[in-house]
This record gives sequence, structure tokens and C-alpha cells, in this order.
Amino acid sequence: MANTLGKNFKITTFGESHGKCVGVIIEGCPAGLKLDLNEIQKEVNKRKPGQSALTTQRKEQDRVEVLSGSLNGVTTGAPICLMVFNKDIDSSKYEVIKRLPRPGHSDMPAFFKYHGSNDWRGGGIFSGRLTLSYVMAGVVAKEILKKSNIEILAQTIQIGKIKAREMPVEEIRENKEKTLVRCADLTAAEKMEELILEVKEQGDSVGGIIECLALNVPVGFGEPICDSLESELSKAIFSIPAIKGIEFGLGFKMVELKGSKNNDEFSLEREKIITKTNNCGGILGGIFNGMPIVFRVVIKSTSSISLPQETINLETKSKEILKTEGRHDPCIVSRAVPVVESITAVVLADLGMQGGFIT
Ligand SMILES: Cc1cc2nc3c(=O)[nH]c(=O)nc-3n(C[C@H](O)[C@H](O)[C@H](O)COP(=O)(O)O)c2cc1C
Repeated sequence: MANTLGKNFKITTFGESHGKCVGVIIEGCPAGLKLDLNEIQKEVNKRKPGQSALTTQRKEQDRVEVLSGSLNGVTTGAPICLMVFNKDIDSSKYEVIKRLPRPGHSDMPAFFKYHGSNDWRGGGIFSGRLTLSYVMAGVVAKEILKKSNIEILAQTIQIGKIKAREMPVEEIRENKEKTLVRCADLTAAEKMEELILEVKEQGDSVGGIIECLALNVPVGFGEPICDSLESELSKAIFSIPAIKGIEFGLGFKMVELKGSKNNDEFSLEREKIITKTNNCGGILGGIFNGMPIVFRVVIKSTSSISLPQETINLETKSKEILKTEGRHDPCIVSRAVPVVESITAVVLADLGMQGGFIT
């Protein structure tokens, strides 16, 4: 099992959904950095369930505790351990998945990989709850990046077939936390919310797309060839459950463009080399080129749905019908937005340190 990301700024996560706790150990964080528990709590609350009718009604307390690495709200240079004790646990609804794996979830392959000894309660290590650790680590990483004025901004741009308009950065910054779906296009956000409520009513679920921008990153971030910016971001992004695809810049649309249209021509802006377009999403040769980093991730529809679905009983090997009970989100996209921002911050803090941009 592998639970560690990063080299110089390294995070190791631990815990299970319905175990005692979920936490993260952060190594390589410089001493003297502000570690504001209120700020960590604020970010963790954004990911929390029970926020609205659009998310699961589980009421998790999610109180963050700082176990080590900080004195009087300032980092000491020692490993930082951040943890949340699990409360409001009801594992009874999950008993059934020991025998009847949920279509679309990790239950079946996990059962075989761990010979039936895996922690099935609440999905164990495969639960979205474990992304709490990324959010906690992300606050520390963002504090490091803040010193270089680096900003990370993610928002929901699509739910099902409902797409948001392209928005200027200022409006994304201003609007995205105003809507329950974390989409800066307020009109599209309303339609997205309606769709989520509609699928919830049907006992079904829906997925979406999150777009993430990283601004003011110095040219040169990324360690080609194997630790290129795309490689490191993708690896980290795919450690978030339910993410099934990533594209940088124009991504798969590049197939339709000839080189003459796809190439981002260079020009000068106040002595600085910029590109006229940003089809490459700010990355060339695995190295950051100074334009905003732009990538999008697709999140699948939540697999635990209350509509009946066919499965196979792992004990009897017979066909059975499963209707998942328990408290699940009809759409997890809005809760994944802060997670995407956080993991991006962790990767950029690490690459910044590896490249000597951040000390
Ligand atoms: C923030 C967040 C919350 C999630 N909540 C749920 C949930 O309530 N029910 C569910 O079935 N899956 C949920 N998931 C997704 C599952 O954890 C994931 O689909 C499962 O582990 C299988 O992994 P895979 O989809 O990456 O293949 C959530 C994911 C995230 C990021």
C-alpha cells in the first residue's frame, strides 16, 4: 500500500472512513511558517458533508487537531501531524457490501486484493472521507506558496450536460464560493443544482468536471522527464477517488487543431515573454512556461445509488440485486473542488522546493 506523495514537501496520509481517525503527516515544511488552525478548519469545512440538500446528510464534526510540528501557531520544522477523529459513524448500512459489492465502487477488487480482510466500514481507505487529509495538507502547502504569490483556483465547470460559461479569473475568485456547486457562472450553477436535486429524487447520481488554475507560478517549475509537471499533477490528482480523467490546456480538443492553430505564439509584454494563447495549459516539455496552469478533471457519478443494480454475492457466487443504503452524495463534484485545489498546492509546493524556487 502506498500513502505518500512528494519528495521535498512530503505528505503521508493515514486512517479509515469509519476507523478512529483520518490524518496526515507532513515532512519538509520549513520552520517559521504560520499554521492557523482556523484556516485549516475553514478549508476542511468546505469539504464536509451535510452542507446542503445537494450533499449527503451525514453530519461529520471534522474537528482538526494539530498533534505535532507547531508551537504557538508557527511551524517548528519538525514533521507536522494533523488529524480528525471520526464521529457520527454508522457502519451498519455497510455490512451488506461485505457480501454484495457495489457496482462502480472498490468493494470487489479490494475484497480480492486484501483476501477479504479490508476495512469495509464506510468504504475503508477508499472512502472520499480520506481526502480530508489532502485538504489539511493543502492549507500548509498554500501558506508556503503564498510567500511566492502563487494562487490556486478551482471551480465546477460542468455537471452532467450542464456547462458553465468561460469566466474571467476575477469573477471565478469572486463567485465560486457563492454557489452550492462551487461554480462561478451563477446561471449555470442554478441549473446544476436543479439537476442534482432531480437525480437525487430518482435515487441516482451525476458527475461533472472541475477546472483548476494555478496563477503566478515562476517559469521553470517541473522536473523532466519523469517528474514533469503533468506527471506529478496527474499522479496526485488520481489519488483522489472518483476522478477518471485529466486534461491540460485544450487537452483532447487538440486533435482537431493543426499545428498552426494549436501552437501558442510567443510575444512580449513589458519585457516578459508570454504566449498569445494558452492551448498548452502553461506547460511545455513538462516545465511551466509562465502562463496560467490550466487543467480539468472529470469526476464520475457517485457509485453508491439507491436504484436497484445487479451484483454477485461474494460468498455464494450467485446473482443478487443491491440497493445501496447509507448516506451518499448524489453528486460529489462540489465537495471535490477544495480537494483538487489542495492536492495541486501540495504538488506545486513540492516541485517548487525541488527546483529551488521555494526554500
Ligand atoms: C469528496 C468525495 C466524496 C465521496 N463520497 C462518496 C459517496 O458518498 N459515495 C460513493 O459511493 N462514493 C463516494 N466517493 C467516491 C468513491 O470514494 C470512489 O468512487 C471509490 O473509492 C472507487 O474509486 P474510483 O471511483 O476512483 O474507481 C467520494 C469521493 C470524493 C472525492
